[in-house]
Amino acid sequence: MPPQDDILKIEDLTVRVGAIEVVHHLRFALQAGQRTGLIGESGSGKTLTALAIMGLLAEGLSATGRVLYRDRDLLAMSERELCQLRGDRLAMVFQEPMTALNPVMKIGAQVAEPLRLHRNMGAREAHAAALQALERVHVPAAAEKMLAYPHQLSGGQRQRAMIAMATACSPDLLIADEPTTALDVTVQAQILELIDGVATDFGTAVILITHDLGVVAGMTDRVVVMYAGKVVETAPTDELFANPRHPYTLGLLSSVPRLDEERHSQLRTIEGSPPDLVKPPTGCPFMPRCAFARAICRTMPPLDPVASNAAHLKACWVDVSDPKEQAYAEKRRQARKERMQAAIREAALQTSEEK
Ligand SMILES: Nc1ncnc2c1ncn2[C@@H]1O[C@H](COP(=O)(O)OP(=O)(O)OP(=O)(O)O)[C@@H](O)[C@H]1O
Ligand code: SF4
Ligand SMILES: [Mg+2]
Repeated sequence: MPPQDDILKIEDLTVRVGAIEVVHHLRFALQAGQRTGLIGESGSGKTLTALAIMGLLAEGLSATGRVLYRDRDLLAMSERELCQLRGDRLAMVFQEPMTALNPVMKIGAQVAEPLRLHRNMGAREAHAAALQALERVHVPAAAEKMLAYPHQLSGGQRQRAMIAMATACSPDLLIADEPTTALDVTVQAQILELIDGVATDFGTAVILITHDLGVVAGMTDRVVVMYAGKVVETAPTDELFANPRHPYTLGLLSSVPRLDEERHSQLRTIEGSPPDLVKPPTGCPFMPRCAFARAICRTMPPLDPVASNAAHLKACWVDVSDPKEQAYAEKRRQARKERMQAAIREAALQTSEEK
């Protein structure tokens, strides 16, 4: 197969809240039809990255760097040029469909809007195409729902309508930011299947932001792992799950509950908390939580290929697959555990003495 062109190339993307950098010098690329999972803890900058790509950052936030869509820099475009692309070639679906749907406009008119705007369709043609779009995403009794307002639909139906609206013009890129978090589990699976199907039909590239690693494993071709506003690892999905090379990715993967664990076992989390974005630590941002850390980690590691594999990059000084490094990390984890246990014993002793 000939190599495909990148449809989206993100270079040195930095997002600031006022003067504070919250997304740092991001780079990754997406080919036509490719699905990329964007993962990382809450606050790692996933949504801001998505909003920066779409030119939808709120007031007070700004983006620098380059976001190349078919070699045109979205960050350098005027709002008018961006409006021509949004809803046409670039689309986004949100966790909460009411963010995108107009509560006082009928569903049919909303789905028809991008078709009228970007496809120059007349009212009748756009109406027919909107109905088709709603049927494609399996909205039940679609003709009736065309005349309904968003609040008259269930959560799942609203999400389907938003997907119909976002994909009405068969976009080149769809960003889905936790599109199923607000829905119940059975509807979640249907919606993901739907996004998958629509993207396949239209050859749409997808950036899927999710906390669900099972979904990432099942639905994406590549994964970008973010920590504290930085890409810390990226690789083809199978490679990342089989051969994670960043300590943070290792932690994320081991925090997924296994099927053979007790039903009520708690989701394990990575010890420690993310760094303060206002006063980030110098060097590797994962250092305070990392069992593999050593002195060199006070300098920020570059995002470099793992073992000369240009498709797999990590920002870490240490080779976590080296048994010597693993033994060192295990020793540090044990020591940390013992320190914590000692602190708990001490606190318990003090409490009982005070009584
Ligand atoms: N409008 C805003 N004004 C100020 N700070 C913001 C704003 N939006 C986000 N932030 C801050 O920027 C950082 C990144 O936020 P972002 O919403 O991108 O995280 P996220 O990875 O999408 O998290 P989650 O998984 O919880 O959705 C967070 O520390 C957040 O508090
Ligand atoms: S660079 Fe150092 S602190 Fe950062 S993840 Fe790698 S080993 Fe840990
Ligand atoms: Mg988010």
